[in-house]
Amino acid sequence: METKRSSFGGTIGFVLAAAGSAVGLGNIWRFPYLAAKDGGGLFIAIYLILALTFGFALLTTDVAIGRKAKQGPLTAYGKIKKGWGFLGVLGCLVPALILPYYCAIGGWVVKYFFVYLTGSGAQTAADGYFTSFIADTNEPLIMMAIFFFAVSFVIYLGVNKGIESLSKIIMPVLIILVMGISIFSLTIKHEDADGTIRTGLQGLKILIIPNLDGITVGGFMNILVDAMGQLFFSLSVAMGIMIAYGSYVHDDADLPKSINQIEIFDTVVAILAGVMIIPAVFVFMGTEGMSQQGPGLMFISLPKVFAEMGKIGNIIGCLFFAMVLFAALTSAISIMEAVVASFIDAFKMSRIKATSTVGITALVGAAIVCLGYNKLYFEVNIPIAENVQILDIMDYISNNILMPIVSIFTCILIGWVVKPQTIIDEVEKNGTKMSRKKLYVVMIKYIAPVMLFILFLKSIGIINLT
Ligand code: ALA
Repeated sequence: METKRSSFGGTIGFVLAAAGSAVGLGNIWRFPYLAAKDGGGLFIAIYLILALTFGFALLTTDVAIGRKAKQGPLTAYGKIKKGWGFLGVLGCLVPALILPYYCAIGGWVVKYFFVYLTGSGAQTAADGYFTSFIADTNEPLIMMAIFFFAVSFVIYLGVNKGIESLSKIIMPVLIILVMGISIFSLTIKHEDADGTIRTGLQGLKILIIPNLDGITVGGFMNILVDAMGQLFFSLSVAMGIMIAYGSYVHDDADLPKSINQIEIFDTVVAILAGVMIIPAVFVFMGTEGMSQQGPGLMFISLPKVFAEMGKIGNIIGCLFFAMVLFAALTSAISIMEAVVASFIDAFKMSRIKATSTVGITALVGAAIVCLGYNKLYFEVNIPIAENVQILDIMDYISNNILMPIVSIFTCILIGWVVKPQTIIDEVEKNGTKMSRKKLYVVMIKYIAPVMLFILFLKSIGIINLT
């Protein structure tokens, strides 16, 4: 039985753990695709502006709510304002829904990492390899279980000995891997059978030079909403995670500085993921290769790119999947911790009991997600996609419906009910001044809720911005 509430040993531990949460599959498989699709540098510029305004406001709010309430998300909102406990239930439901499918995908990453580690990476480039892997009943379950038990073990070890210690080792390694692969990606070139030569640096231009060709107001709005949705998932806001992590931060920590560092870390890795992936895909597959995102990009297109690289492709692929595994692990850990922290605080459970309860439920959920590609296979249409499976449905409900709702209510609670000064006072508790105070107030009261509402309408298919 825990008598004293857990906490991070220091600010560095908090920043690395939160950056570990932020840097995840979202950065690696969605940011590069969106940047290539949405006008390269134009998307990146919009994303950066939003990170400094919208992202800053939402991240500050979540961390400060957690630190003020000293509770996991389930009970934190109710502690900030009586009668707002319902928001805690929604805020805890989000990570509870994401955890199972994140573990299923984590299992896919484990499988690819093993295949590359044993030097057989080339086989993953064969047509139909990924589809037949997920269509198998047993292997995805075994891989998911390996990933899941690794995550659960860290959670069981606790905030200090588990999450903080692991983040301090993994995050520096991750950044070295990301930088190394990015540099490699910029140096490659390839000649097609017809003599066309494409280089990594040409690919980089597609990623960073703003492309304003044929841009319309609707198109611009679409890029804005894409960037916002991406930022949201990438910063791990509205998932209860930053509330849980914020609740473990000491009162004397410099929150504005830590929040800036988390944002910089997440954004740099997202852009570097673009530098890693876009030039490599462009060199070997041309612009057509860039139409993929998500599993299609990571498990189908990239293995073909690694195979094209020849002998070194297996080494690069192995390093790449090790990096993805680290990113996915630290994110999945934070997602599970948001739910476990909630159970510990709300039901006064011991860490081991909360970890087992949440773990068993998530394990069953993750098994259902894996079986969704074989034994439990079916296809349905959702407002943003056709013929999708269980994983996509869970992703859609958590990401596109619940997260905007949680965030809109959070803006109403902080902007209009308890007032932004509550958060500002919390941030300035250690004596440091919050520098973007006015910006924070305007964002949380007016701009963020309106933008979130537009994002929500697009997500549920009510408006179409193209
Ligand atoms: N923020 C995490 C990601 O990008 C959840 O995957």
